[in-house]
Amino acid sequence: MSHPDRLVELMRPGTLSLPALPPLSLYVHLPWCLRKCPYCDFNSHEWRSDAGGASLPVDTARAYLAALRADLEAALPLIWGRPVVSIFIGGGTPSLFAPEQIAELISDIRARLPLEAGCEITLEANPGTFEKDRFRGFREAGVTRLSIGVQSFDDAKLKRLGRVHDGAQSRAAVAEAAEVFETFNIDLMYALPDQTLGELDQDLSQALAFRPPHLSVYHLTIEPNTRFAVEPPPVPDADLASDMLDLITARTGAMGLERYEVSAYARAGHRCTHNLNYWQFGDYLGIGAGAHSKLSFPHRVLRQVRWREPAAYQREALAGRAVSNEHEVKRAELPFEFMLNALRLKDGVALQQYLERTGLPPSSIARAMAQGREKGLLRADPARIAATERGFDFLSDLQELFLAA
Ligand SMILES: C[S@@+](CC[C@H](N)C(=O)[O-])C[C@H]1O[C@@H](n2cnc3c(N)ncnc32)[C@H](O)[C@@H]1O
Ligand code: SF4
Repeated sequence: MSHPDRLVELMRPGTLSLPALPPLSLYVHLPWCLRKCPYCDFNSHEWRSDAGGASLPVDTARAYLAALRADLEAALPLIWGRPVVSIFIGGGTPSLFAPEQIAELISDIRARLPLEAGCEITLEANPGTFEKDRFRGFREAGVTRLSIGVQSFDDAKLKRLGRVHDGAQSRAAVAEAAEVFETFNIDLMYALPDQTLGELDQDLSQALAFRPPHLSVYHLTIEPNTRFAVEPPPVPDADLASDMLDLITARTGAMGLERYEVSAYARAGHRCTHNLNYWQFGDYLGIGAGAHSKLSFPHRVLRQVRWREPAAYQREALAGRAVSNEHEVKRAELPFEFMLNALRLKDGVALQQYLERTGLPPSSIARAMAQGREKGLLRADPARIAATERGFDFLSDLQELFLAA
């Protein structure tokens, strides 16, 4: 279908009525890693470098950047004129790209999309000697926020997780990020194989010693189709994992980091704009291999996914066909989709935001809201949709109330 026909189709009347379009973010997926971690189910592909270096060959990077440009250009009619509030360059391991390549990517974007003043531009980086030496270059390329995939500072735990870096490299990477960036994030995981409360406490002490403005701490999950699913490691039971979460919340709180989302902790003024936009059911265009998009139109919400394999993605993107699947979110599915995101936020969202972003009337959730309040899972405030403390502890039970009947 030609572009004008496609747009006419997306703009035609439908059962939703959105009074305004939400903020728009851009996600860029860079799909390569030095080694695939045994717990990881993200779209990441091992880069086998015969030369043993930590850089992607220039030709590979150049070809991928060309595919991203073609992808973005083909997507422009769907987001015409809308300013971008945040960019997230994620992976994979984006820090395998050289600073000049990241600079090229950011100027390719700037030349095609209007960025909101002060647009947050996050890049995911892994610890490692090569990567660390690039942090200054990333900042000069226009990156405003670095997110470092530390996972743990403990050599033995990192080995169990199949990571290519050790504790000393984790510390060196965070120290460099703290010096170079005004705001940065550390990714940690907990409930690691054979982890004790004391070991987690050590990891937290090391992370907090750098006074990070933002910390993400994820419960290690054993995902299907990973090596850990085939050979499951012994991980802490539910009681210990719950004590671990209490420890994380207490120790971060004592350092002035507020738990504002299930896994995210931030000092005032350092919450992640990009992730907040996801949780508030904002729009995002995702470009790159396997990237997901959610785009709103006056009468519909569209979801897209791009070709997953890097080679197929690059071939198809250059031919103007980066999208492998798309569908309109059904009216009956919107309440649950909205709540899957919004209820992860400690303070939830305003009811008004639900009405604006789904284009649905209050009656679409009236019954579920009443049930949630009766069960003590939702706060009583009629103008907000927010979990109580109990609701936050039983989040999936609360979210399921909003499933289509
Ligand atoms: C997809 S990774 C990309 C960042 C970078 N490549 C890295 O691994 O450090 C983003 C984050 O997701 C988290 N993550 C990945 N797999 C996970 C799993 N199975 N359980 C919990 N967290 C996971 C890790 O904390 C990781 O930093
Ligand atoms: S480095 Fe990150 S993205 Fe790559 S395989 Fe490991 S967890 Fe997945």
